Amino acid sequence: MNITLTKPFILRCFIVSLLLSLPFFLFLILLLLSPQQHYRHVSIATTGNDNLRIRPGYSSYDAYIQRQLNKTLNPRLRKIWTTRDWDRKIPVFARFFEDLKEKKLLQKGSKALCVGARVGQEVEALRRVGVSDSIGMDLVPYPPLVVKGDFHNQPFDNGTFDFEFSNVFDHALYPERFVGEIERTLKPNGVCVLHVALSRRADKYSANDLYSVDPLLTLFNHSALVHVRAVDGFGLDTEVAFRKNTLG
Ligand SMILES: C[S@@+](CC[C@H](N)C(=O)[O-])C[C@H]1O[C@@H](n2cnc3c(N)ncnc32)[C@H](O)[C@@H]1O
Ligand SMILES: *[C@@H]1O[C@H](CO)[C@@H](O)[C@H](O)[C@H]1NC(C)=O
Ligand SMILES: *[C@@H]1O[C@H](CO)[C@@H](O)[C@H](O)[C@H]1NC(C)=O
Ligand SMILES: *[C@@H]1O[C@H](CO)[C@@H](O)[C@H](O)[C@H]1NC(C)=O
Repeated sequence: MNITLTKPFILRCFIVSLLLSLPFFLFLILLLLSPQQHYRHVSIATTGNDNLRIRPGYSSYDAYIQRQLNKTLNPRLRKIWTTRDWDRKIPVFARFFEDLKEKKLLQKGSKALCVGARVGQEVEALRRVGVSDSIGMDLVPYPPLVVKGDFHNQPFDNGTFDFEFSNVFDHALYPERFVGEIERTLKPNGVCVLHVALSRRADKYSANDLYSVDPLLTLFNHSALVHVRAVDGFGLDTEVAFRKNTLG
């Protein structure tokens, strides 16, 4: 065979290969121009990892609040939460709290807050295990167990509580604020217990997805980790307990 690589032939090959790779370069440019389209990452929680992702699609803070209210105010669901679910869920919460009492993370004399308590099943459970000074907080109040408040801006003074429980971390649009407010309203040495889902994605009302406890360790930067353990808490699989430092 006698192939002669003439200059025009090489030039033609070069141009053709350039044309063929054009779509690839266009795709690359588009990708580089829109890096934040899919997830707004939590800056402080992404030191090289991807274990906490804020869900896209909330056009404004008000849209986020409206979405939360939409479910919480649903009359049919409220009926279920205060009847059938009431007797089913309170004993389960009570066992979690009894266990935390045995571990000395909660006492009968503790002033306790449940963050995102909805109709207050967990508050009722706290009271049943003897923690009488306990209250819940939610966007929608449910007197006398639950007062109105946004967990991104808790309506309580610094250093109010000995103990805070929450199973709604996944509803936080601003996890730094959610945790910052818990650390602010806890007393020095106060305990925060979270129930979170690591292995399962929560429902469409969630605002973030958590894939490991690492982001929580970063967020609770005024506390020490007490324990991480498996639980079976209504779809939430992991209990994480923190103790706030003595000095703020
Ligand atoms: C999955 S429910 C949890 C209910 C309750 N903790 C229980 O286990 O029965 C989530 C709750 O978080 C509340 N929530 C969502 N965003 C909130 C916010 N920014 N501040 C306070 N509560 C909020 C909702 O209103 C809803 O009641
Ligand atoms: C609230 O829920 C209703 C029906 O469940 C739906 O039609 C409406 O679009 C929802 N609104 C928001 C703000 O999500
Ligand atoms: C703790 O984290 C918050 C945000 O979650 C940040 O604003 C603050 O600077 C951090 N503080 C320390 C001491 O790292
Ligand atoms: C409450 O705590 C926050 C954060 O820990 C701090 O910035 C603020 O100054 C404190 N407010 C008062 C009144 O002590």
